[in-house]
Amino acid sequence: MAEFSSSLWHSHLWHPFTQVATAEPPLRVVSARGSLLYLEQGSTLIDAISSWWVTLHGHAEPSIAAAIAAQTMVLEQVIFANFRHVGAERLAERLCRHTGLDRLFFSDNGSTAVEVALKIAWQWWHNRGEPRSQVVAFAGAYHGDTFGAMAVGERSLFSAPFEPLLFDVARAPWPATWWGDDSVQEREGQALEVLERLLQTPTAAVILEPLLQGSGGMAMVRPAFLQAVQRLVRQAGALLIADEVLTGFGRSGSLFACQRAGLTPDLMALSKGLTGGFLPMGVTLAREALYAGFIGTDPSLTLFHGHSFTANPLGCAAALASLDLLEASPESYRGMEARMKPGLVALAAHPKVCRPRQLGCAAAFDLAVAEPGYLNAAGRRLQQLVQQQGVFLRPLGSVVYLFPPLATTDEQLDQCFQAIAQALDQL
Ligand SMILES: Cc1ncc(COP(=O)(O)O)c(C=O)c1O
Repeated sequence: MAEFSSSLWHSHLWHPFTQVATAEPPLRVVSARGSLLYLEQGSTLIDAISSWWVTLHGHAEPSIAAAIAAQTMVLEQVIFANFRHVGAERLAERLCRHTGLDRLFFSDNGSTAVEVALKIAWQWWHNRGEPRSQVVAFAGAYHGDTFGAMAVGERSLFSAPFEPLLFDVARAPWPATWWGDDSVQEREGQALEVLERLLQTPTAAVILEPLLQGSGGMAMVRPAFLQAVQRLVRQAGALLIADEVLTGFGRSGSLFACQRAGLTPDLMALSKGLTGGFLPMGVTLAREALYAGFIGTDPSLTLFHGHSFTANPLGCAAALASLDLLEASPESYRGMEARMKPGLVALAAHPKVCRPRQLGCAAAFDLAVAEPGYLNAAGRRLQQLVQQQGVFLRPLGSVVYLFPPLATTDEQLDQCFQAIAQALDQL
């Protein structure tokens, strides 16, 4: 483990999720293309986690770059409280058509998209004069790092210092599954029992990451479980919020994970792949009935929420160009699961691999270690070993996963799986 040496770190930068006393100093990247990061020393790395899951098609995807460049010369930004523009209109129309929802509210990132969903849900009940005091979330959830998003996320090392500031959330178990799991049905049944009990308290909303919890350890659940959750949520008259910040835009193997899971949520949060990974932007989609609940001459009905860069026209141009690519070649995301399967099957035979699992662009497993978890050092060791072989991974403690951009070639995927296999031998 690296000793903190100030000479290896920039004297004015503060990196996210990074403890400088123990982390490896960040590498300086000079450019990127497709799935490759080019470093200043001339070496390359395959970005096998899409740079925190945002780089959807590939780095520097030419059509998105061109769309942004063209937009900079036309309209770079305008206050969205008083103006609208064609980019925002087209994007809203297309995303509503794809998701089956009706209204789109813009923000800046995944956390804000979740905050907005929570605020819409909460205030909708308030505006009706029927305030509901409970929000339900799932064990292991991660919804972002702002306060509301932290509150609905699993309480953890990340949120511990802020615990007194986080609102209470009722939590149901998340019956994650994997290849060869023979107890999933029983755990699903137990989770549904808990959820049913929790929903006896009037509930404003239930929030979940459809099919795949990302930061919570690439934890995957079955569509039938989510459909049963949705039935209970409907019976209780609560709102269902789908956080598709990670799973949206083909990452689950369908354009949206809700489609693959058979869910029809009331609210949906999107970000990450939205702009193809080029620009920070989040959106929250809502049903028309929710929008209607905010209309009236009483000013207190208004959703008093907004960000300076709401509906940034460059972000809209990037998002439209990214959607063009997804619509033109759905096989690019539909095919990822089959392309990665043989590599994961081969790894699954390794004695240090447990609970192999796969969904869309995500192929994951747990390291067989005595003390699994985010602080387990084995994942970091594996990260160093694969990096020596030209592959960039960022395991979640003892959970190792690939989540590559769609542009990743079969040869590059092979290189990733082989690098992991060799690293496992060396661990
Ligand atoms: C499911 C989910 N929701 C919300 C977020 C927060 O997004 P952001 O990091 O853009 O704030 C993330 C980030 O990883 C996520 O995976």
